[in-house]
Amino acid sequence: MPDPIAVNSMFGRIASRYDLANRLLSFGIDRWWRMQLVGNVRKANPATILDLATGSGDVAFALSRGLPQTTLITGMDFCEPMLVEARKKQAAAHGAVGNIAFRQGDGLALPDPDQTYDAVTISFGLRNMADRHRSLTEMHRVLRPGGRLYVLEFSQPQRWCRALYYFYLGKVSPWLAGLVTGEPGAYQYLCDSITQFPDAAGLAEEIRRAGFSTVAVKRMTFGVVALHMATK
Ligand SMILES: C[S@@+](CC[C@H](N)C(=O)[O-])C[C@H]1O[C@@H](n2cnc3c(N)ncnc32)[C@H](O)[C@@H]1O
Repeated sequence: MPDPIAVNSMFGRIASRYDLANRLLSFGIDRWWRMQLVGNVRKANPATILDLATGSGDVAFALSRGLPQTTLITGMDFCEPMLVEARKKQAAAHGAVGNIAFRQGDGLALPDPDQTYDAVTISFGLRNMADRHRSLTEMHRVLRPGGRLYVLEFSQPQRWCRALYYFYLGKVSPWLAGLVTGEPGAYQYLCDSITQFPDAAGLAEEIRRAGFSTVAVKRMTFGVVALHMATK
């Protein structure tokens, strides 16, 4: 499991280049993955949403644009420089995404009371949590009964493309991201954290163990990414 102090400081160092590196490394597909998440959240029409590990806020912004403006969205992260980037983008939108409050908070000890939210979203964040079970039980705790959890995360792709994909992750992406962010080590961590992450069935089991029921999985882009949807 990753060391939270190292993870926080690593995201702090790459915060200002994080979005650019995302677009480049995923060939822009990351936006489509996030839109799939938003489309599924929209179906449940939650009034209150926690976007945990919000980072520079892209999921929170997509939720704000895709759902009614009456939806109250909390974007939470433990890395202040990432939240600074999110707030800059919010200010640049001139009130268009004004229903988001960005707050600092730790996914292992959420600062909200039990049963606060109708939905919790977490995109590319669970993999970085030092204790996945604790983080999932915290998400379960702050959800209302019947509330929905949406986990968008890298997964283990279909067998036929694994060798090529792991080569890209291990060799090409740290080099490319190093050029953009000056931090190739951060993207070596990305590679290691992805290859060590459970496959879709394994993550579904971990989500059930945290107390959720009816876990559904949507695999995308040959299984490179998976969206897990569960109910409290
Ligand atoms: C890869 S970024 C994902 C950001 C955003 N959700 C997205 O889709 O681009 C992972 C984020 O998880 C955050 N994070 C990692 N551990 C955390 C924790 N224990 N509590 C809150 N945020 C955490 C990091 O600070 C970072 O911003």
